[in-house]
Amino acid sequence: MPPMPIHIPGYRFLHSPGPTHVPEAVLNAISRQPMDLGDPRVDAVTAACENGLRQLLGNPQADVFLYAANGHGVWEATTVNLLAPGATVLIPGTGHFSESWAVMSEALGVRVLRTPYREGYPLDAAEVAQVLRDDAIHEIVAVFAVHTDTASATTNDLAALRQALDDTGHPALFVVDAVATLGAAPLDMVALRANVVLSASQKGLMTPPGVGLCVVDAQAFAVSVANPRPRFYWDWRLRQSEHGYRKFCGTPPLNLLMGLEAALGLIAQESLDAVWARHRQLADATHAAVQAWRTGGALDFLCRVPEARSVSVTAVLVDVDAAHGVLPEDVRRVAREDFQVAIAGGLGPFAGRVFRIGHLGDLNAPMLLGCLAGIEGALVRLGVPIGRGGVEQAVNVLNRAPVSPRG
Ligand SMILES: Cc1ncc(COP(=O)(O)O)c(C=O)c1O
Repeated sequence: MPPMPIHIPGYRFLHSPGPTHVPEAVLNAISRQPMDLGDPRVDAVTAACENGLRQLLGNPQADVFLYAANGHGVWEATTVNLLAPGATVLIPGTGHFSESWAVMSEALGVRVLRTPYREGYPLDAAEVAQVLRDDAIHEIVAVFAVHTDTASATTNDLAALRQALDDTGHPALFVVDAVATLGAAPLDMVALRANVVLSASQKGLMTPPGVGLCVVDAQAFAVSVANPRPRFYWDWRLRQSEHGYRKFCGTPPLNLLMGLEAALGLIAQESLDAVWARHRQLADATHAAVQAWRTGGALDFLCRVPEARSVSVTAVLVDVDAAHGVLPEDVRRVAREDFQVAIAGGLGPFAGRVFRIGHLGDLNAPMLLGCLAGIEGALVRLGVPIGRGGVEQAVNVLNRAPVSPRG
C-alpha cells in the first residue's frame, strides 16, 4: 500500500454504509468542551436526543435508552433485557446481520429459531407466520427483525411481519434493528406496534460511531422487568432514571451526544418527509447507474427484488470471470486511491463477491454523482466491461422531483 499523501486536494468521498459523512454542524457541536456532570445542560442535551429519537420513530411515549456503544452493544442490550437464559427468540434470516445477532444471542444462552435467508431475496413473512403458528404454547418471547440488512443491502417488509404476528395471534414482542434505516427510511413504531427499535449513531443519524440506542415501549419494558437474567451495564431498569449518571451507567459520551443533538436538529429542520424523499431519490439514482453498468455482463444487483433494494446501501455483485479477473477489492482500492471515493466491501457470505455503495446520511445529489462517477472511473480503469451511461442515468433520476415514501 503506498504511503498516504500528506495533502489530498479537495474531499475524499465517504460512501460506506456507515460510518457516514458527518455534517459540519455535527462536527462543530462535537468539538465543544465537555461539561461537568452537574451542569444542567448535560440533562438538556440528553433530553433533546431522547425527544428527537421519539419524534423520528413517531412514538412520544417510549423510553429511550442511550448507550456508549455500537450496534452490537444494543443488540446485546436488547437480548439480555428481554430474554432469560434458555428463553426462545425467532430471528428471521435476512443475511449476515440477522445471523450475527442470532450467534450473539446463542452465546448469551438464548434458544434461537431461524427462518432461512435466500440470497438475493428479502425475508418471507409467510415462513415467519408458520414458525409462529407451530409455536402453539407461545415459547417465542420475541421476533428480532433486521429492517435493512446492510450486508445484503435488502430491506425487509416490517408491515408484513406485523401482519404475520397479528394473523397468528402470537403474543411475541416485535423488535426491529433499524441500525441501517433510522433517519433514512420511514419507520413508525406506533403504526407497526414495534415494541423495541434499536439503532446506532453512525449511519442515517450522521454522527460518528459510539452511541447506541434502544427505544422501548411499556410492554417490552414490562417483559424486561420480569426477566430474571443477571445484567447490569445494559439493564433498562437501572437506566430508567432521571439522573444522567444512572441513565448512562456512568459518564455519558457527552460530545457524541452533542453531535447527535445537532444531527437530530438537522433532520427536524429538513423535515422527515424531505429526508426520506431525498434518500429514496439518491437510492433510485444509484440503482439507475448500476442498472446501466450491469448491461456489460460483469456486474449485477445482489438484491434481485427491485422494491426490496435498500434506500441506504446498494450491493453490487461482481462476476470475476466476466470482469476479466477483477475482484471487488480491486474496484474498492482503485476507487479509493485513484478517485478518492471510499466504498465498502462484502461481509460474511458476500466477502470477495460484492462492493457496496452507501447512499445514506448527509448526502446530496452532487456528492452522489461524484461517488458514482468515481466508481465508474475505477471500473473503466480496471477494464471491467460495463454498460456506459450510468452517471447519465443517475442524473436523469435526480432531475425528477423527489417523492416522499412516507409509510
Ligand atoms: C443492520 C445492522 N445491524 C447491526 C450492525 C452492527 O452495528 P455495529 O457495527 O455498530 O456494531 C450493523 C453494522 O453495520 C448493521 O448494519
